[in-house]
Amino acid sequence: MPTTVDNPLTPPTTSAPAGRRRVSRQLRWAVPLLLVAIAFVAYALPPYLTLDPSQSRLPVPEAHPQYYPLLVAHIVFGSVALLAGSFQVWPWFRRRYPVAHRWLGRAYLFGGVFPAGIAVLGVAPLSSTGFVSQVGNTMLAVLWLATSVAGYRMARQRRFAEHRRWMIRSFALTLSIVLNRLWVVLFVVLLLPQVDTTYGGDQDAMIRAAAGASVWLSWVVNLLVVQWWLERGDSRARARRAGRRAPA
Ligand code: HEM
Repeated sequence: MPTTVDNPLTPPTTSAPAGRRRVSRQLRWAVPLLLVAIAFVAYALPPYLTLDPSQSRLPVPEAHPQYYPLLVAHIVFGSVALLAGSFQVWPWFRRRYPVAHRWLGRAYLFGGVFPAGIAVLGVAPLSSTGFVSQVGNTMLAVLWLATSVAGYRMARQRRFAEHRRWMIRSFALTLSIVLNRLWVVLFVVLLLPQVDTTYGGDQDAMIRAAAGASVWLSWVVNLLVVQWWLERGDSRARARRAGRRAPA
């Protein structure tokens, strides 16, 4: 049954001290999240703003002239998605600034996820990091677009509880770019001792294996974690409602 009344922009009815405690709990993750997003964009974006393919951190395949412009578009719009999304998932921000939430939401979707996701569909199959990561990234792009479209449709239909769930899934996928960097370091460290044995001395093959595993884990794990977290929230809300209904 769609929920039309549970509007996340409506302030919850709680006492002032309880409200302050909730805001300070949120600050513990919202501020680090914002700082990580800003640091990631500050590091990742500048070489691509030069529009000079020789500055690309990834090899640019000469046989595919569309690769570089699509990669630049992906990274510019992806940066918008990462920064806007980091504000959007912050409940205090949504409730305190509902108008900004709507505008940032439009920026997240129309200036971020949609163009970045469409552009990357032309980049992912050409990646130099091998077939496993090409498939993993294409799948990620499709799910990124699909969860975001679902979130947008729910908001248009004023089904805000479902809108929130789909947008949380969408943002979990946006964050995959940051988590990917951690997974890749972990896998390179794990696989490095096997270069001469498993990979017959071929370091590129080891890097391709590490890249492939990281692409998949960077979004599958995120989706599993947010799904678990959403379910846990649902069962807690059910328990609270049942407690309120129970006779004294
Ligand atoms: C969630 C969906 C995403 C998918 C499917 C995706 C996929 C890809 C792919 C396929 C590449 C090129 C890899 C290659 O040619 O080897 C790439 C590169 C890149 N993407 Fe994304 N990406 C996503 C989200 C993001 C976001 C949100 C950002 C935020 C800034 C971002 C920033 C970058 C950067 C900076 C690069 C270039 C890598 C480098 O310079 O080291 N991506 N991405």
